[in-house]
Amino acid sequence: MSKESSLKMFDVKIVIVGATGLVGQEFLNILKEKHISSQNIYVIASDKSCGKIIQYENSQLIIQKLSTFDFSSCKIALFSSGAAVSAIYAKKAAELGCFVVDNTSYFRMNDDVPLVVPEINAFKIKQSKQRIIANPNCSTIQMVMALKPMHNVSAVRKVVVSTYQSVSGAGRYAVDELNKQKSGDLTICNFKHQILHNVIPQIDTFLDNGDTKEEWKMIVETQKILDTNMSISATCVRVPVLRGHSESVSFELEDDVPLLVLFDALRDFPGIIVSDNFSHFYTPLDVVGRDEVFVSRLRNCFAKNLYNMWVVADNLRKGAALNAIQIAEKLVEYGMIV
Ligand SMILES: NC(=O)c1ccc[n+]([C@@H]2O[C@H](COP(=O)([O-])OP(=O)(O)OC[C@H]3O[C@@H](n4cnc5c(N)ncnc54)[C@H](OP(=O)(O)O)[C@@H]3O)[C@@H](O)[C@H]2O)c1
Repeated sequence: MSKESSLKMFDVKIVIVGATGLVGQEFLNILKEKHISSQNIYVIASDKSCGKIIQYENSQLIIQKLSTFDFSSCKIALFSSGAAVSAIYAKKAAELGCFVVDNTSYFRMNDDVPLVVPEINAFKIKQSKQRIIANPNCSTIQMVMALKPMHNVSAVRKVVVSTYQSVSGAGRYAVDELNKQKSGDLTICNFKHQILHNVIPQIDTFLDNGDTKEEWKMIVETQKILDTNMSISATCVRVPVLRGHSESVSFELEDDVPLLVLFDALRDFPGIIVSDNFSHFYTPLDVVGRDEVFVSRLRNCFAKNLYNMWVVADNLRKGAALNAIQIAEKLVEYGMIV
């Protein structure tokens, strides 16, 4: 039987900012699965959605206005309305006594804001100085989840990752765009090129060194979470998959560690499912709606301390909403919510 959520046990009031979006909808799905009462949930989206209804089991949640919402009436605020909204309202919510778990990139690299994947560094939540905890980027979360068990065995020195990121990682309008293109409307809005029948090696804008911002995020966030000495190179690619990100991760360990030891480390790590059958691997379709990070095709390449693996996860679950709700549960378990 699954453990009861601390959010339910302590009757915590939660507000979701961005409740109509892909991440917001997944927050609601997970809260339903955890049997959180509708009376403890408030929902906010943009002004144009104000007053609209979101069905939550047998109850109706009314979308409230962000600028007039009383954040002091809630204990936890889950933000997923984009960085510009978090920049103003996450701080406001925190100042009014609410703990904020922010899904946007706005606070991630702020030294005073813990960047948390609970299986790896939940203890950092206790170091929060501003009542704000940042959720890492979806591609970062699944990669650090797969690297951490290795890093526990022998320091990961170098990582070269190529991602295959689904369109849902870019929000609901990007999903609509792929679906429209499938039905023959090839209009391009959210991506620089047609995404149907294509792959696009650009996610977010380019920086001066030739990396994109998404690639930069994967690098600096991984260093902040795992080890500032890790050398990382990333190539982030959008693919015409609806949901679920995949990553080919090559990494160098300090020591020559036998594969069997790495498989054991992965198997023992919470939240990881690993295939040690070389011809059995996971695809995005296998992981939609699943909470775990799936690792397969782990093998040596070139030398004994160099390895490759294939990492797949649901970007809306562990990559976003689930990770944030796990952080919220830890806030309660640590007695930080009173
Ligand atoms: N998608 C992912 O896999 C993923 C993973 C990790 C992190 N994130 C981050 O999470 C955030 C949301 O992503 P998403 O995929 O859920 O986007 P989305 O599907 O486009 O949804 C955006 C949400 O933000 C709301 N919103 C827009 N402007 C607003 C405003 N001015 N005030 C209040 N609410 C506003 C929208 O409300 P309306 O319906 O009223 O427009 C909607 O609820 C982004 O910062 C994204 O980078 C996403």
